[in-house]
Amino acid sequence: VRTLKVALLGCGNVGAQVARILLDDADALAARSGARLELTGIAVRNIDAERDVELPRELFTTDADTLAKDADLVIELMGGIEPARSLILTAIQNGACVVTGNKALLAQDGPTLYEEADKAGVQLSYEAAVAGAIPILRPIRDSLSGDRITRVLGIVNGTTNFILDQMDSTGAQFADALAEAQRLGYAEADPTADVEGYDAAAKAAILASLSFHSRFALEDVYCEGITKVSAEDIAAAKDAGFVIKLLAIAEKITKENNGNGGGEGISVRVHPTLLPREHPLAAVRGAFNAVFIEAENAGELMFYGQGAGGTPTASAVLGDLVSAARRVVLGGPGRTETTTGHVPALPVSASTTSYYVGLDVA
Ligand code: HSE
Repeated sequence: VRTLKVALLGCGNVGAQVARILLDDADALAARSGARLELTGIAVRNIDAERDVELPRELFTTDADTLAKDADLVIELMGGIEPARSLILTAIQNGACVVTGNKALLAQDGPTLYEEADKAGVQLSYEAAVAGAIPILRPIRDSLSGDRITRVLGIVNGTTNFILDQMDSTGAQFADALAEAQRLGYAEADPTADVEGYDAAAKAAILASLSFHSRFALEDVYCEGITKVSAEDIAAAKDAGFVIKLLAIAEKITKENNGNGGGEGISVRVHPTLLPREHPLAAVRGAFNAVFIEAENAGELMFYGQGAGGTPTASAVLGDLVSAARRVVLGGPGRTETTTGHVPALPVSASTTSYYVGLDVA
């Protein structure tokens, strides 16, 4: 059986679980991939840092560049823009397939990376970047490629869903619900990226790009977080039969559904949304994620699961890795995704429809 060299860049919560599964489940992964996936090294900043998972010390290195250059498959889980971007480009240029969970990088610079991967004939996959464990990108890209998606509504940030759910069920104010999310380890000490909606906006850009075969970057996404949502807003919504959710929305705006005479195109936005309590997404409680898709022929679909956490997110990374390994074993050309052309993103003022509108919480 052929052996493929796997380099892991980054060893945080997700990276450590990916390494553990690669080592513990090597036989099963080999059977599914058609090749042994040999973890050749783990690039970290600090070899002696405390980690939840015990891993062989000899795997660790601080030389990410050399590790990335000598691998068939590279897993990037460092996060942030640099050095992740340069390392991914190095790996691609050396003919390696890349698996990443780096939503911030993809939302900022995805098109360059996809193009480079296509040019090199390697696969760049990133299922873990959106909604953690939930298989959502491949269903959009592959299973629905014969259909036309008209709208995607996602609860793609578990921290904010937990906070809003807490406010809805206990009547708590935002600050108290945030403190509870921090106490339980959902929210970071600096919760800005979650509560201001930036994390969800990066995911919205990726979902919109794949759903509408175009390229949306973070700057195309209207973004409003949940910091101004009060207990009173939530109570008023409840009385009227609604729940307030932070949704990532990507939808096709046409003459028919354009409520206010604005343009046609794709609207991509993140904001607190009034959702009827009987909508399937209203049932998504706590820190869970879900993505609801409407397509012309398939109709309504919903994908639900854990959007964060080391082990769940590692599941998505390993799925991409096995898929890339199969591709390498079969010798097929890599093909990253199908975003061609460019449909301009609409300004939010031209794109609100039905009840999926922003709350006026100013
Ligand atoms: N902080 C994110 C969340 C997980 O709360 O969903 C990583 O994107």
